[in-house]
Amino acid sequence: MNDGACRVKTGRLIFLGWMAMASALAAPQAVQLCASCHGADGNSASPRFPRLAGQQAAFMEQQLELFRERKRDDKGAHQAALGKLDAAAVKGLAAYFAAQQPAANPAAGADAKLLAAGRKLFMEGNLAVGTPPCFSCHGDRGEGNATAPRLAGQHSAYLLSQLQVFDVSQRPAAAEMQEIVKTMSADDIKALVAYIPGM
Ligand code: HEC
Ligand code: HEC
Repeated sequence: MNDGACRVKTGRLIFLGWMAMASALAAPQAVQLCASCHGADGNSASPRFPRLAGQQAAFMEQQLELFRERKRDDKGAHQAALGKLDAAAVKGLAAYFAAQQPAANPAAGADAKLLAAGRKLFMEGNLAVGTPPCFSCHGDRGEGNATAPRLAGQHSAYLLSQLQVFDVSQRPAAAEMQEIVKTMSADDIKALVAYIPGM
């Protein structure tokens, strides 16, 4: 190996070491305020609590500020934690959970037909009734982006609960979703919440 390659390699090792340290620092005590519900690595076990691992940081920051301002109803779940966190700490937590590895989480008991129907809706929508393909905003692997949240690997029951609340305007930042949900049948939603968790 020549000197140049060696230097590059050493540089990368130092960089990786720094990254490991940075993520260790990004998981300070504040994560303990979230871990009991969401899991320390964001892969919550209970479907009552959404998974945060790999979720988009901008989305998490936005939702936490909405909880703080009581614009999105969380039944008080974040009141105590947010009382101890300023905007910079919220930003740090969002970056920490976004950097965690999402664990597999396929929906239990979904049959092949339902999964295929869910996949078709996700990729193609149902343009005849005005349902757009979900992938067009949420990404073709459901990974999300700067403007729409990650859906892949989310608990099926949580996805279902959110698709129901869009209807009653508990999610002020979800104007697009409110319109989209109106175009979907109960069967469409059943198929989608079976398919998406296993993406
Ligand atoms: C007491 C349990 C509890 C604690 C502690 C808690 N959460 Fe939550 N979190 C919830 C529940 C319940 C929801 C879903 C609210 C709803 O139904 O809309 C949620 C939703 C969220 C969401 C929105 C996710 C989505 O996909 O819609 C984010 C982001 C979030 N929590 C981040 C955090 C962070 C960061 C902390 C730590 C500072 C934290 N939570 C602490 C219970 C908790
Ligand atoms: C035009 C863009 C767009 C399309 C198309 C779209 N979504 Fe969304 N979706 C969003 C945005 C933006 C949000 C975040 C809303 C918020 O901030 O509360 C969202 C949020 C969601 C959530 C809540 C996630 C969470 O963690 O809280 C679910 C579930 C969801 N969408 C499902 C779907 C499904 C299923 C489809 C396809 C039928 C779809 N979306 C199509 C933009 C879109």
